[in-house]
Amino acid sequence: MSVVQPTPNDIALMAGRAGYVLKGNDRGRFTVASPTLYPHMWSWDAGFVALGIATVSVPRALDELRTLLTGQWSTGMIPHILFHSPSDYFPDPDRWRTQVAAARPAGVLTSGITQPPIHVVALSRILHDARRKGGADLELAEAFVVETFPRWLAWHRYLATARDPYSHGLVEIHHGWESGMDDSPRWDAPYSHVHPGPEMPPFVRRDLAHVADPSQRPSDAEYARYLWLVEQKVRARYDDAAYRATGDFVVGDVLVSALLAAASDLLADLGSELGVDPAGIEESRAIARRFRTGVLRSVNPDTGLARDLDLRTGGYLDVDSAAGFAPLICGGDDALIKAQRDLLLGPRWCGHSRLRWPVVPSVSPASPHFRERTYWRGPQWPVLNWLMAWALNRSGEQEAANSLRLAGLAQLVDCDFAEYYEPITGEQLGSKDQSWTAAIALDFLAARRPGRRRHVRLLTSELPRVTPAGRPPTQGFAAPRGPQNRPQPRS
Ligand code: SER
Repeated sequence: MSVVQPTPNDIALMAGRAGYVLKGNDRGRFTVASPTLYPHMWSWDAGFVALGIATVSVPRALDELRTLLTGQWSTGMIPHILFHSPSDYFPDPDRWRTQVAAARPAGVLTSGITQPPIHVVALSRILHDARRKGGADLELAEAFVVETFPRWLAWHRYLATARDPYSHGLVEIHHGWESGMDDSPRWDAPYSHVHPGPEMPPFVRRDLAHVADPSQRPSDAEYARYLWLVEQKVRARYDDAAYRATGDFVVGDVLVSALLAAASDLLADLGSELGVDPAGIEESRAIARRFRTGVLRSVNPDTGLARDLDLRTGGYLDVDSAAGFAPLICGGDDALIKAQRDLLLGPRWCGHSRLRWPVVPSVSPASPHFRERTYWRGPQWPVLNWLMAWALNRSGEQEAANSLRLAGLAQLVDCDFAEYYEPITGEQLGSKDQSWTAAIALDFLAARRPGRRRHVRLLTSELPRVTPAGRPPTQGFAAPRGPQNRPQPRS
């Protein structure tokens, strides 16, 4: 039987190589999401990047969040991209045309839509690291929390008001990109009502130049819909009410809502610990309660999964996507959490017999929607696995959390830090040297638990013995690559 057993050397290489990737993607006060495919700052990437960097440098982690806040709109919205120097990324600032929006920030070019609110989760992890280190790091981190508390609250308030005006308890998204899971089958039904009009300016995709084969990315038809929604946002001058009245895609997103609930709870905790703004703390708690209720209300008793709500049709969307585990993130009653844990680790999900690694797939391999190579339609995204491990830990499910963490680390010993992985073969897909993948490797290696922090070396004794399913054994692990022998750009 073929067995892959990482050695202490593999683990040390992984830590070193993750640091090398993050350093290579560092642009001073922020980190590009990846060197070629995503050469700017992405909002939820920045959250994961910050919490990974915090294991190495608290000040640099705080810089990441500080830079992100320079892009915050006067509505409180944190945009999903902050652009810096010109690049071949498309859609570029000329396509977003955010100058039509009164709420845009001065002096920073941004996109005009959002991404999931992971940032206060990151902030609480950074503070945890700062507390462990003490001294100047702790002072800096606490001062940052006190200073930026109103900015995070404004961000959460924006989502809770402008994006849930009718109090469904679900955050409304206006574009699949706002979910972070661009082409997930979660959005197939809502996108079927999006029909690009003749007024749409022509466009040329640039993303396909940076991946090995187009099947790893959304299709041209999907891209046309994405860009049409951008046009609709521009026409509404990025005013949420105006877009709601005219736009084609309006969906209550359970994963964004669960993250908002969890982040709002954490913000309230941080505020209480540091004696900040009692009214803001109360407001945060209320936001957490409302969105937790919305998520829990959406659970389908037959499947055990939470569901998005199509606000154009009023119907829940039943899809076997990992977003269905949103209750693990926002919390719920014990019976539901245990049922979700069992489902997640069971044969429809991480325990599916065909999976190379028992790591969370974006779509269940048992689902008719499952496509193993295509972006959010099946591949395993290490950050999603991290999120579920984090959520299980918070729910007191340490054993389950640790199983995802160890499997996630075993998946990453190739040291390529791919954007996502083919779940059956383990092949790296999408971009390589993806910042957030490297960052969560560092966090997994640091293995924060209440009251203790493990040294990397201790990990090897607990890494699982992994049996590759139906493929030859991995021949050792990649040596760290210097600039001279990095992978060649793909044509
Ligand atoms: N993920 C999107 C892209 O592929 C943007 O957020 O460009």
